[in-house]
Amino acid sequence: MDTKTKYLGLELKTPIIVGSCGLTADVDKMVQMENAGAGAIVVKSVFEEQIIYDIKRNTHVVAPTDNYGDSYEYIAMHVADDSLEKHFAMIREAKQRLTIPVIGSVNCFSYENWLTYAKKFEEAGCDALELNMAILPYETSLSADDVERTFSQIINTLRKSISIPISIKVGTYFTDMAKQMQQLSWMGIQGVTMFNKNVQVDIDIEKETLTNASYLSNPEDIYNTLRWIAILSKKMRCDLSASTGVYTSDDVVKMLLAGATSVQVVSCLYKNCIESLRQLNEGLQRWMEKKGYDNIAKFRGKLAVQPTDKASVAMRTQFMKYFAEIV
Ligand SMILES: Cc1cc2nc3c(=O)[nH]c(=O)nc-3n(C[C@H](O)[C@H](O)[C@H](O)COP(=O)(O)O)c2cc1C
Repeated sequence: MDTKTKYLGLELKTPIIVGSCGLTADVDKMVQMENAGAGAIVVKSVFEEQIIYDIKRNTHVVAPTDNYGDSYEYIAMHVADDSLEKHFAMIREAKQRLTIPVIGSVNCFSYENWLTYAKKFEEAGCDALELNMAILPYETSLSADDVERTFSQIINTLRKSISIPISIKVGTYFTDMAKQMQQLSWMGIQGVTMFNKNVQVDIDIEKETLTNASYLSNPEDIYNTLRWIAILSKKMRCDLSASTGVYTSDDVVKMLLAGATSVQVVSCLYKNCIESLRQLNEGLQRWMEKKGYDNIAKFRGKLAVQPTDKASVAMRTQFMKYFAEIV
């Protein structure tokens, strides 16, 4: 049974990959993931805020005006380099010890740093880079156009500046999801990961403070991802990686039938264990065998909305089946 697939132009033994998370910040765990059957690994993101936090902690400076004068810039740059260097040392070690592709991940808020950090990922030897683009329309002053322009500017700049494959990881807050994703896929990127899971905000009513709800997803979270993969997979000019809510090998099969090129798992590994990658792969192979498929291309995208079909009709048909019992 051949589960090989091509994702972002990289050869993967299996489409099941580990998404960026705390577990992928540790090379020993990454080796365990490869042994358990991961097709690739997306390393824990570098967050620009983390680097800035390190700068502040190490310099005890809260603003460039504090005492340090001109030397602040120098110290800040040095600490930032040191902080990033630890991350890139981890990536270099992962590249030495793993045979599967290692995909870097970065999340910035300032335009210049997307570029600075992306170049460093390429130098560290990553096989590809996933841009964790958590650019959310939180401000009342922001229009959809503003948000979309930011996406385009960052992608355009990085596309011209680095030569490793680029994928973008997006959330669900787009006013025009289908159109926007399709347009981004025309910008020379190799993949889109749908979707990042935003940290859910909760309120502690005793302490009267904002807190975070559980950071792990639930199995029913898969349906939103599945819907959009099925709608978009045949309408994009790049690969789609399915993320959020994948827990079982049946979920993997569904995402592939919907047209995903790869399927990312994170919460499943936290709730179960890294070894569950083995069951996901075995389950995929068993299903392929039962159905008589000897490779993934034979069924990938079988249930996607076709390029010339209207997604609205396909989705309304499902709606009618349920509410009007029309088959
Ligand atoms: C503990 C934890 C840490 C995470 N860290 C990152 C990160 O650094 N970068 C990123 O792009 N996504 C991060 N994520 C999001 C996951 O990559 C993934 O998109 C999300 O958890 C949904 O997938 P799942 O349902 O398989 O968990 C993190 C998730 C968890 C649970």
